[in-house]
Order: sequence, then C-alpha cells, then structure tokens
Amino acid sequence: MYLSREEERMLSGEEGLAVQKAMQLLTALGEVFGAERMVKIESAQIAGVSYGNIGDAGMEFLEDWADLGGKVRVKSTLNPAGMDLDKWKEMGIDDEYYQRQMRILKAFEKMGVEITCTCTPYLVGNRPRSGAHVAWSESSAVVFANSVLGARTNREGGPSALAAAITGRTPCYGLHLEDNRVPTAIVKVEARLESIFDFSLLGYTVGRILGSGIPYFKGVLVRDFDKLKIMSAALAASGGIAMFYVGDRRRTADKLEKVCVDQRELELSREKLSSEGKPDLACIGCPHCSIQELRDLARALKDKRVKEGCALWVWTSQGVYDQAKDRGYLRAIEGAGGKVFTDTCMVVCPLEKSGYSHMVSNSCKAAHYVPSTSGLKATATETYLVLESVMEGR
Ligand code: F3S
Repeated sequence: MYLSREEERMLSGEEGLAVQKAMQLLTALGEVFGAERMVKIESAQIAGVSYGNIGDAGMEFLEDWADLGGKVRVKSTLNPAGMDLDKWKEMGIDDEYYQRQMRILKAFEKMGVEITCTCTPYLVGNRPRSGAHVAWSESSAVVFANSVLGARTNREGGPSALAAAITGRTPCYGLHLEDNRVPTAIVKVEARLESIFDFSLLGYTVGRILGSGIPYFKGVLVRDFDKLKIMSAALAASGGIAMFYVGDRRRTADKLEKVCVDQRELELSREKLSSEGKPDLACIGCPHCSIQELRDLARALKDKRVKEGCALWVWTSQGVYDQAKDRGYLRAIEGAGGKVFTDTCMVVCPLEKSGYSHMVSNSCKAAHYVPSTSGLKATATETYLVLESVMEGR
C-alpha cells in the first residue's frame, strides 16, 4: 500500500504513539481490503459509544488512546451513548452505569470529538459536501451519506472511524472508489408508498431480499429527507447495504439482478416485525427525529394523553431538541405525557431498565434490534397506530 511521506511519518511514530496506533490500524485494514493508498477525509462519525455495548474493555481502550495523546484532526462527531446525559435517572439508569458512560464521553472529549451523541450527524452540523470522502460508522448515517448527501464512506467500525479522525485519512477502497458506486440490482416497487413507515418497510424488505449490494429503486421519486432517513436505517438493519439510488434516469448495466417488491413482500416484513400482545412503550425516533418529525408529532398529539401503564418515548439529538424547545413542540409532546430523550436511543440504551415489556415503533430498524438488545417484544407499524397503542383522547 502506497503511503505519502506524511503518512509514513505517522506510521513510524514521529507524530506520537496515538497517531502511530491509528495509522497501524488503518494500514492493516487497507491491506485486508486491498487498498492501494489512503484518502484524506473531511469528517468522521464515530460509533461504539454506549457503555452497554462496549463495556469496560471498550472504555479502557478509549481512555488509553486518549492518554497516549490522541487528537482528532477533522470534524468528528459521536453516535448515541447509552443514556440521556441529563434525564438518565428517568430511564432507570443506575449510578454505576452513568459514571462509566461519562468516562467514555470524557475520553472522546479529550481527543477533541464533539459530544453530539446522535445517529443523524447531518442534522447537527456534520454534513459533508457531495463527493467528499468521510469515515462514518453508524450504519444508517453511512447509507444516508452515500445515497442522499453524495459523500463517500465505507461502513466503518468505531475504532477505524476514530483512527481515521486521528490521522485525517482512511484506506481508499470500497465505496471511496467511483467504480464501486454503481447499482448492483434494480428494484421495481409495485406497492403504494406514502407514509414514513412505508419507506421503512420498503428499506427493510429490500435489505432482507438482497442482503448486500447497491439497490437502484427505479422510478421511486422521493425527496422527503425523513423518508430517505428511515429507509436508510432499515436497509442497513436487515442487510449489509451501505448505499442506494432512487430516481428515474440512472444508466445501469444490462444484466443487473432485478427484484420486484409488491404489497405481499412488504406484508412479509411487517409480519416478521410483529409481536403478540399489546404494546406498552411507543418509541419514535429511529433514526433520531428531525425538527419536522417533532413538529408533526406535536400536532398529532393534540387532545391526546398517554394511557395509564403505557409510555411514549421520543428520541432525538440535543441540537434538534433545543430547536423543538424554542418552537413549543416539546411542550406539546410532554403535555400529552410523552418524554423526549436526547443522546441515546431505544436500541443502545438498556431499555430493559424501563420496566416496559413490548415496544412499538414506526421504525423497522428499532423493531429489528430491540428484542435482541434488551429482551423486550417489538412491533413495527404505521406512526398513527404506534400512537393509538399508547394514547387516548383527553
Ligand atoms: Fe439511530 Fe439508534 Fe436507530 S442509533 S438509527 S436511533 S438504532
């Protein structure tokens, strides 16, 4: 693998042990994937933040790197942590978990990473230009960055995204190369797509059928960022997809795999993501809610309140939360009995500590992961049905 003089210096330790460790990791990764060189990146988005996910070993690994003097040299933001940094007690988090989560965040902070704690970095200032190379690791954000923003990133792991942030580089392979960014399958959609949930279900279904590759949703015209956001998350949850195309004038090779998604296929996915019994915890915000979604939710909750024994938990970033507060959306949601949490989500927090047993969400990604991450039952359905499950008229 070719390294520039500066990269050689990093690898030899001339820029310190933390940079050397980062460059060693990246060159090893580059060798595995056959990269011929490094590429400079514009930003990093780093996963592996929740104490529940990385545990003591991950925490100490990050602290060691920070103690070695690791410092990021590009804009670097963080994925959700394992708790709301203010309202952690309301989530049932205990003191020990809190302390350890804070140690993780302090290590990142020491390295210069912005403590954004969100899977929607593009809504809070980490929004790369079209064509920019980045190193992002949250799977839904990776799909969104490649497909909607036109940036270029592989699906990084937490350590490789951090190493990229510390060196300002990532190995140039996979989706950094133009030749690898072409559709590998054409998806014909023969089902009506209207709601946000329809797009989540579509993404989940195509991920389930294809497993990997770059689907081209021929003829699907969608410009609504929230629909593209939730579809990105679902595509990466049921499959290993990191990029897609929508629209109607893309040239493709003649012999591409063709997939037809009709109502029956969507229903199969819906059945797969349904559990018996009544849900008692409604979750909205996977990926983290945009300001428009919080506005729509505030309107939908007018004259409603959360039923006894149930809860409505909404997940967003601190940046969007602040905007929603200014615009009165938080007051409307909390007035109906809902809670709006930041910095974390239903999948990376210890949801089992909530005391609820059956989560319902409009996000297929959330329903896909929650049973395995926290043991709750999970169901995915339309937003209005999610709300109907736990709300009643006032
Ligand atoms: Fe984001 Fe958590 Fe969903 S990280 S995409 S809200 S699983």
